[in-house]
Amino acid sequence: MSVGTLITFDLLVAVLTAATWLGAGAAAALRRSGIALALFVAAAVLSVARVATAAVLAGAGWWFVQEKVTLTLPLLAVAGVVAAAVAGPRLVRAARGGRADLAGRPAVVVPLLGAGYAAAAGPVYALLLGYPATWSAGPVTVALVGAAVLLTWRIVSAPASLPAPAVRTAVAVALAVGLAGTGLAFVPAPETDMGGGPPTRHLAAGHPADGRTAGATGTHTADEHATGTGAGAGTEHAPEAHGNGGSATGEHAPEAHEAGAGGVRPVTALRGPSEPAPGGTTRRFALTARTATVTLSSGRRVAAWTFDGKVPGPPITAVEGDLVEVRLRNADVTSGVTIHWHGYDVPAGEDGVPGLTQDAVRPGQEFTYRFLANQVGTYWYHTHEVSDIGVRKGLYGMLVVTSRTGGPADRVSGPGSGPASDGETGRTRDGGPAASTPGLDLTLPVHTFGGVTVLGDHDRTIERSAAPGAPVRLRLVNTDNTPHRFTLAGTPYRLVAVDGQDLNGPGELGRAGLRLPAGGRYDLAFTMPAARTVLLAVDDRTEGLRLSPQEGAGSAGAAGSAGDGAGWPELDITRYGTPAGTPFGPGSRFDRRFTLVLDRGLAFSGGRPLYAHTVNGRAFPSIPTQVVRDGELVRFTVVNRSRDTHPWHLHGHRVLVLSRDGRATSGSPLWLDTFDVRPGEVWEVAFRAANPGLWMNHCHNLAHADQGMVLHLNYEDVTTPFHGAHGG
Ligand code: C2O
Ligand code: CU
Repeated sequence: MSVGTLITFDLLVAVLTAATWLGAGAAAALRRSGIALALFVAAAVLSVARVATAAVLAGAGWWFVQEKVTLTLPLLAVAGVVAAAVAGPRLVRAARGGRADLAGRPAVVVPLLGAGYAAAAGPVYALLLGYPATWSAGPVTVALVGAAVLLTWRIVSAPASLPAPAVRTAVAVALAVGLAGTGLAFVPAPETDMGGGPPTRHLAAGHPADGRTAGATGTHTADEHATGTGAGAGTEHAPEAHGNGGSATGEHAPEAHEAGAGGVRPVTALRGPSEPAPGGTTRRFALTARTATVTLSSGRRVAAWTFDGKVPGPPITAVEGDLVEVRLRNADVTSGVTIHWHGYDVPAGEDGVPGLTQDAVRPGQEFTYRFLANQVGTYWYHTHEVSDIGVRKGLYGMLVVTSRTGGPADRVSGPGSGPASDGETGRTRDGGPAASTPGLDLTLPVHTFGGVTVLGDHDRTIERSAAPGAPVRLRLVNTDNTPHRFTLAGTPYRLVAVDGQDLNGPGELGRAGLRLPAGGRYDLAFTMPAARTVLLAVDDRTEGLRLSPQEGAGSAGAAGSAGDGAGWPELDITRYGTPAGTPFGPGSRFDRRFTLVLDRGLAFSGGRPLYAHTVNGRAFPSIPTQVVRDGELVRFTVVNRSRDTHPWHLHGHRVLVLSRDGRATSGSPLWLDTFDVRPGEVWEVAFRAANPGLWMNHCHNLAHADQGMVLHLNYEDVTTPFHGAHGG
């Protein structure tokens, strides 16, 4: 049984335990001593079973059982033992002797119901509060159970039979415990999490920049950025000052990125360069956000929020070393819009996070983004203002960067390949003269649009053909909030890149299910077979792409239908490909370690109480900000205690997966920008903090992000002139 299943099973047992204890009490009160005795025995057995499930869960990590071990199980144990000792013998006598009146006595009913309340505290606590158990919630829980017992006692006893002083004392104790717990809830919580690193020198995030900017070598481009927002004006930026020319693996030498005078830099000073790298060109794009009705391939029309009237928006393509310049205008998206370059480690000032790196672009305003195309691979862009709604409604598009030299990851591609667009490029596997078979390069973003699954803007099967022998690359992008499962039938293939990063030694795949997390990308590569149709299915039901050999190649064998791959085992990407050296690993010395326990519970989010998706028991903006210093090696432990999948996404950095559920990756090094933490899973990932800025660190199920699952990772010397409170 997986830990995720066990979490659900434990919850089920907990609910049953409470139900049987309460049922036993109710039956006793109704003088049904036989039923009461049977339920009592069942309750006792289930209570012991709870201890057993908790013990197994504890094997997966302390986080999964913390509140059970410290609070709810001891509470149940005490109440259960009291019930067994006080009510048990009487109940047995009542049932054996047929003395129904005995069963209805308070000495039987109250302990049984009391055990029921205590048992109920388990699932109620787990569902409403979750991780972690606090000094405040513990006493309140005990007081509530105590109060419920007193009330029950009061109701089932004849008033005269109660010893008044005892009752008064009990009420007073319950009240005191409850008040103490409530009081503790007001103890201020920490605002930052140092992750075990050295204490911060200062943290001025949230305060306006004071004009002392960094980057003495910066080029003055004051009026080129942030037009219409006014916020970036007057700042300088330091081109390529911070690892923009770095390697594709995300590792940079921990050089000293010295802050400017005073040691403080506003995020608005951390902008992209104004010139491409040597050999590159500047690629200019203009995108206008506007509402529009888009027509899907079936003719179906959907009301959308779009870039340039299209969903997905215009593809942004570039060759490694180019300068990408995107001028965003907002025509009429009233809630505002920005562009975030998902998975692309742009300088912080280009990251498109409203309230943190810029103000949202309102109708009539504009903002220009500039960054070097220095990561080859498949990426995407999307709005980050009310992103749950904005992305769902269509404010996203593809970003594909190809290599200048045509490396192995770049077998077939070139600028101009857009979402499900004509990507035939005529380039060969070696990047040599285009004499041989032209390749096919398709970018296929999956999205749920108006209730239907679309690839690009196709809500019907995409029919394409390719010449036998032609190299084919399919770039799968998940722009939804939940994972999608892909299967490819009709040809062996390789998963050559994940999240834009080439895998090392990816083996040939046949009958495999590919689970693509929200926000993630998989690049598949194969050689077009001569006499077979290749079929890409989404979620085992939607026929996404049907690729047939070009005419004249003889009759194509059928690839089957969309449902055929339903039983194929899911590929475990942590064990796929071959190991290779990494700049750091599980044995490295980490400067900071952060643990994020993901759960659900009641929390305050910006003043409003919310049944939130929580991190360490809190919701945005109350989750402590993680503070790092430039050059540090940082390790995250991400634990999912909830029953939802959380695709975790850190802006501005790719993380190296160290282990999942305690097992180190055994395949290719995995550099991800979005890792899918399923219920019960524990991921260990690491990254080098080499991209100074203020970064979002959040769940890419954007509905979860909207409900609190967002925090910030800040370099300690970077500040923002904006309100600093962006949550999604
Ligand atoms: Cu694609 Cu903040 O995310
Ligand atoms: Cu989530």
